[in-house]
Amino acid sequence: MKIFCEKDYDAMSHRAAAVIAAQVVSKPDCVLGLATGSSPVGTYRELVKWYKQGDLSFKEVRSVNLDEYYGLAPDHDQSYRYFMQTNLFDHVDILPENTNVPDGLAKDPAAESERYERLVAGLGYADLQLLGMGRNGHIGFNEPCDHFPVITHLVNLAPSTIEANSRFFASAGDVPKQALSMGIGTIMRARKILVVVSGEEKADAVYQAVCGPVTPEAPASILQLHPDVTLVGDKEATSKLMEAQA
Ligand code: GLP
Repeated sequence: MKIFCEKDYDAMSHRAAAVIAAQVVSKPDCVLGLATGSSPVGTYRELVKWYKQGDLSFKEVRSVNLDEYYGLAPDHDQSYRYFMQTNLFDHVDILPENTNVPDGLAKDPAAESERYERLVAGLGYADLQLLGMGRNGHIGFNEPCDHFPVITHLVNLAPSTIEANSRFFASAGDVPKQALSMGIGTIMRARKILVVVSGEEKADAVYQAVCGPVTPEAPASILQLHPDVTLVGDKEATSKLMEAQA
């Protein structure tokens, strides 16, 4: 695993965006696996800036997002489809039909999970998968549990995730209790993985992911088995890791 400890959020975002830009420049029709959350917002901002300067094009890129809240409409301002539109898609030249996010309003979540998994497999999985990390070490919405979920599925969100994500909603009661998420197997089939993490509340999760045992109780720890992972964190998120290595 390549680890970059950056001085602040902006430096982290710049570093992560450079990895994505390198992927798109090297393979213009690549499949990008995309993530939501506050950690990648700055990364998307950098990509939009480079697009506007004429340095980057997403014209041939296909994208697959990691997850979506179950029960939220695409135009709900907390849905991950809405997040992607407002943070990236609406500002670059990616074709709308080439962007994919699980359907949070699907009547049959099992059928939607199957459809989404087939879609990602049909695209040949991600060339580069961007990930954030939950405070509890979740990736996508794969919460700590007693096994590694393999494919796209409906997840019951952990109380700690509902609590952490309530900052974006009027109250914790408004946070959806379920989500559709790529499985850990879907994520691990990406050819390259890029993790962005910021903030001291992630320091433990980052430490466990890199130095702890590989266990589904810390889902991100499975990244230790992937041959091509780059983790970019700010000083706070990588603080425990750096302390351990000092
Ligand atoms: C949500 C998303 C994850 C993301 C996590 C961390 O739970 N499902 O994919 O990694 O939030 O988000 P943040 O970067 O805002 O801490």
